[in-house]
Amino acid sequence: MKSGIGIGLIGLGTVGSGVVKLLGENAGVISRRLGAEVMLVKAADLDASRAKALKLSKDIYTKNADDVINNPDIDIVIELIGGYRPAKEFILSALKNGKPVVTANKALLAMHGEEIFSASEKYGAPVGFEASVGGGIPIIGAIKQGIAANNIQSIYGIINGTSNYILTKMTDEGREFDDVLDEAKALGYAEADPTFDVEGIDPAHKLAILANIAYGTPINFPDIYTEGISNILPEDIRYARELGFKIKLLAIAKLKDGEIEARVHPTMLPEDYLIAKVDGVFNAIYVVGDALGPAMFYGRGAGDMPTASAVVSDVIDISRDILCGKSGRTPVASFRKGNRKKLSVMPIDKVRCRYYMRFTALDHPGVLSKISGILGRHDISISSVIQHGRDAGSAVPIVVMTHGAVERNVRKALAKIDGLDVISAKTVVIRVEGEE
Ligand code: NDP
Ligand code: HSE
Repeated sequence: MKSGIGIGLIGLGTVGSGVVKLLGENAGVISRRLGAEVMLVKAADLDASRAKALKLSKDIYTKNADDVINNPDIDIVIELIGGYRPAKEFILSALKNGKPVVTANKALLAMHGEEIFSASEKYGAPVGFEASVGGGIPIIGAIKQGIAANNIQSIYGIINGTSNYILTKMTDEGREFDDVLDEAKALGYAEADPTFDVEGIDPAHKLAILANIAYGTPINFPDIYTEGISNILPEDIRYARELGFKIKLLAIAKLKDGEIEARVHPTMLPEDYLIAKVDGVFNAIYVVGDALGPAMFYGRGAGDMPTASAVVSDVIDISRDILCGKSGRTPVASFRKGNRKKLSVMPIDKVRCRYYMRFTALDHPGVLSKISGILGRHDISISSVIQHGRDAGSAVPIVVMTHGAVERNVRKALAKIDGLDVISAKTVVIRVEGEE
């Protein structure tokens, strides 16, 4: 039996630095669990100052990722540079060399996961991607192993730490969007391109990965409906609170009539729901299995050490197989290769849920009946209405909560309502989840 596992790391940024620290600080417990030592053999980064800050020796640091990928002393390659290129080439080259790979790169897996999974199967080298969803939360392992006996009925996730951090600070402290985003960037939570976080692209990447392994289907990423938080205004946060709701950026996946419902958008949730209480950089994934019922996985969704925790857990898992001379025990995409089948993603038009609508309407007699008339003709029934104060002749907000309605009808109705001469601004719409 081997006495040690050689690690090669590409990328010494936020997460890569966390991995170096964790392998050092927790070397004792890791080797006791594994029965072998995990040794950092080489670490590549374009910027030499990062290795210096981590006090890595000259033997370990390299500028060139090929020194990691082609090194015979390296058993596992960890990719932590992010982005599509050259990360994809690095991963495919490592797999071709028969080296298992660990990555946190959800953007790459969402767009090119099938190619990477196929290479993993072809070359018999596993790919660990626990850190790609939910930072330190072990949700990938839970779906692949812990709850593998279940048909998964639905997944609701707060899986972008940056936007949850921003929404929390806007809600609790009344702070401005841009100010909180700068703070999330400084804390190392945001992506290299933070529009991925605030426009919902990052949680959609993660949802593609979750839906893939939960339902055994490749997901065509552009089919996921994606809407971010950049248009959420303080007044909608206030109205949500008044109605007993909180606004969260939610990633939702459900299996419905042979189609996958997969969507990411700001969502109003009853404030007493457990998942509505998930604040700050914390993430949560609420999964409903047919045998298990609901279960919620909660923890830090971003940051150096929580994410490093997930990366190193993959290293330990793969090392266990290496030490036993085995591989391929758990299929890389959770289902055996021939047992995965392509399911289509339900178009957003077909989705049914409740809606919050904030109309900006002139305070004239009969306005509400015009709005409710159009909603009614589109099979949208109102559950409650709020209008504070009166300002005859001026524009005032009218807030409507609906019962369950079909998105296609909602879009048609709003196009008509926004064309009325008594409506002076585009209507704000937020989808609502939770029992009526
Ligand atoms: P960073 O931008 O902090 O780090 C990336 C590092 O990789 C930088 O030091 C960069 O150097 C280096 N790099 C870029 N290209 C190369 C190359 N060709 N060869 C060697 N090094 C290179 O990113 P993070 O650590 O934040 O993220 C890494 C991955 O983890 C991403 O996929 C991200 O999405 C994911 N992730 C991040 C989380 C977080 O909390 N930050 C949480 C979960 C996942 P330089 O700066 O000089 O370009
Ligand atoms: N930018 C991501 C987030 C990092 O804020 O959740 C973790 O994947």
